[in-house]
Amino acid sequence: MPNAYISGTGYYVPPRVVTNDDLVKDYGIDTSHEWIVKRTGIEARRYAEKGVGPSDLALPAAEKAIENAGLDKSDIDMIIFCTLSPTYAFPGDGVMLQEKLGRCEDGHRFIPALDIRNQCSGFLYGLSTATAMVKSGALKHVMVVGAEVHSAALDLTTRGRTVSSLFGDGAGVSIVSATEEDRGVRNWHLGADGRFADVLCQRVWDMRERPFIPQDENGVGQVKPEMMFAEMNGRLVFKHAIERMVAVLMTACWEAGITLEDVDLFCFHQANLRINQYVSDMLKIPAEKTVHNIQRFGNTTAATIPILLAEAEESGKLKPGMKVACIAFGSGFTWGAALIDW
Ligand code: ACO
Repeated sequence: MPNAYISGTGYYVPPRVVTNDDLVKDYGIDTSHEWIVKRTGIEARRYAEKGVGPSDLALPAAEKAIENAGLDKSDIDMIIFCTLSPTYAFPGDGVMLQEKLGRCEDGHRFIPALDIRNQCSGFLYGLSTATAMVKSGALKHVMVVGAEVHSAALDLTTRGRTVSSLFGDGAGVSIVSATEEDRGVRNWHLGADGRFADVLCQRVWDMRERPFIPQDENGVGQVKPEMMFAEMNGRLVFKHAIERMVAVLMTACWEAGITLEDVDLFCFHQANLRINQYVSDMLKIPAEKTVHNIQRFGNTTAATIPILLAEAEESGKLKPGMKVACIAFGSGFTWGAALIDW
């Protein structure tokens, strides 16, 4: 049975920087740099321009990851696209990226494209799925994408400030490849608790209703703001995020037969710097063994971990031979951890 290792990483964030002060200045939101930094650590985020979707952000990240892996795009056997902000309700962005990568042209195989809708934990669900497929021997190179365009669906008014100040746009890609070397994704542990599905959600429509989006007398669909934008009980999310991230990380280490001291680099999902500092303090993880980018990019949900991995590899902080722990928690609630020998 082959091992499954990450052969290449890449990321892309849109060029437009939106600082906390810009939220006040450009959008008139009643907030402040001090409030947002103190509670979340976020100083700025990136917003994509109109006309740019998650698969557009994913394309340069995917091309970089393919280049870093020393592969050609024709080597990729499958795309797993993780996002909570798909361009359309259906189909997913996986097929859009497949087309943008030129994988529908004559002479190419029509590789499968799978979309994963597990929000902040999406990348770790995707990584686990890719690992299982590669280890089974079925596929050699699986591209796992985390890409989000949040800026189109944020309530950028004072009414929506609790949620809208948190999120940003971006994309990260990891390619999971087969190897006979003694390295790669050692184990992963995933979990979910559907009792909290409504605590952090973006409804937009309700398929139990008739029709699923209310219509006015002219047949025009009407979506109320509370349905259109994400809803969140921030304090409950905060509490569960800490508990679940601690538990899933400890479980993954226990299952792998290692201790936290054996881990060289911790990549936490970037929801809130304070959540990650709490978890690190509880587990006595030294700051120099962690990487963060929420200060610059905000919460890019499914993209946070693959962007972190790509940045850490690019900067030389992440090197072959290191033991890496990736940990996530998010809407669902869903959570996960993966341990990787890089
Ligand atoms: N600027 C200024 N004031 C604000 C802002 C803002 N951006 N957002 C909220 N407030 C106000 C509220 O309106 C409220 O005012 P009021 O007392 O007059 O009603 C006050 O601040 C306190 O609001 P809370 O929601 O209780 O603020 P809290 O201290 O809980 O901080 C926060 C909110 C930062 C969202 C916090 O709950 C949190 O970090 N939760 C974790 C959730 C999270 O990180 N979610 C990310 C997505 S999920 C994921 O990726 C895991």
